[in-house]
Amino acid sequence: MHKIPVGVLGASGYAGRDLCALVQRHPRLELVFASANGRRGETAELPGGGQVTFVAPDDVPLSSAALVFSALPHGTSAEWVRRSRDAGVRAVDLSADMRIGNTDADVIYGLTEARRDEVKGAELVANPGCYPTSILIGLLPLLEDGHVASGATISVSAASGVTGAGLTPRADLLFGEVTENFRAYGIGNTHRHLNEMRAFVAEEGVDADLIFTPHLLPMARGILATMTVPLTAPLVDPLALWQRRFHNERFIEIVNTPPETRHVAHRNVVRITAHTLAHLRQPTLLVVSAIDNLMKGAAGQALQNANLMLGLDEAMGLPA
Ligand SMILES: NC(=O)c1ccc[n+]([C@@H]2O[C@H](COP(=O)([O-])OP(=O)(O)OC[C@H]3O[C@@H](n4cnc5c(N)ncnc54)[C@H](OP(=O)(O)O)[C@@H]3O)[C@@H](O)[C@H]2O)c1
Repeated sequence: MHKIPVGVLGASGYAGRDLCALVQRHPRLELVFASANGRRGETAELPGGGQVTFVAPDDVPLSSAALVFSALPHGTSAEWVRRSRDAGVRAVDLSADMRIGNTDADVIYGLTEARRDEVKGAELVANPGCYPTSILIGLLPLLEDGHVASGATISVSAASGVTGAGLTPRADLLFGEVTENFRAYGIGNTHRHLNEMRAFVAEEGVDADLIFTPHLLPMARGILATMTVPLTAPLVDPLALWQRRFHNERFIEIVNTPPETRHVAHRNVVRITAHTLAHLRQPTLLVVSAIDNLMKGAAGQALQNANLMLGLDEAMGLPA
């Protein structure tokens, strides 16, 4: 059967190499190029088997692909997405460059379960950040159905494994600094993911503030987000709201017990629970969600979007 040619820019990075592995196992896609910068010319093993040889960015035959995934750092990615589009190639940008709240350009925000109809047939999709995927999918039924109290503050404490910071060496991410330790970072409501989350909440017509405090987990991959949401009125059976909203979704799992990162590792899923908080004057919900930052938070969701853009089954080539 004819395979659709796709390329990966930034293929030697954490998100890029997971993308290459997904593409190589995909029944309808063929990897026609994979770029690296410092590691250009190297051949690397892919997770789950197979190999890939990296070409330098300037040697990439962009127009040989029907779709390009850009897993380049933010700031660098936008230029390569522009070049891809100029070559008539569809693009999924995994960086923050094209996301709502970060650009005035009208680019589809690829939070798939929320924007599926727009992603279908789109030429360019900005893939959401890893934290925003876990948080916004977790909050989606409350945002869409008008349950968030007007003027409320949604408070989010979330923790990510160290692959969330990419492969660039940093002293504060050395094993000895991370292991047997747990710390917050980006404190003061300053993390760059806040832009897209605020913009999305506003797009949903919700008047609320967000407090977002990220933490660094002493593990490689995974995100756990814990959110408190003041409500307009108490919900008798909170979980039923998520079950109704997501009952047809293949990559959303609603659970009674607190989600755990080990249950979503290497999977393209968001696991969510919701519970009423006791002993508060204002009706308030606790929502907890877990994802793999490199799968549903990056490569997996990017492939989910690419499948839709190319008219393929959304779940094709994705681990359940
Ligand atoms: N990590 C996550 O959990 C995650 C989740 C969602 C979204 N994202 C986004 O996805 C993108 C990739 O993240 P990552 O964590 O995979 O990053 P990474 O591990 O640091 O990899 C970056 C990739 O870009 C290449 N690169 C760096 N500078 C370049 C330049 N100036 N020109 C061309 N290529 C260059 C690197 O090549 P060399 O290594 O060969 O130099 C590498 O292949 C980022 O925009 C990030 O924000 C990441």
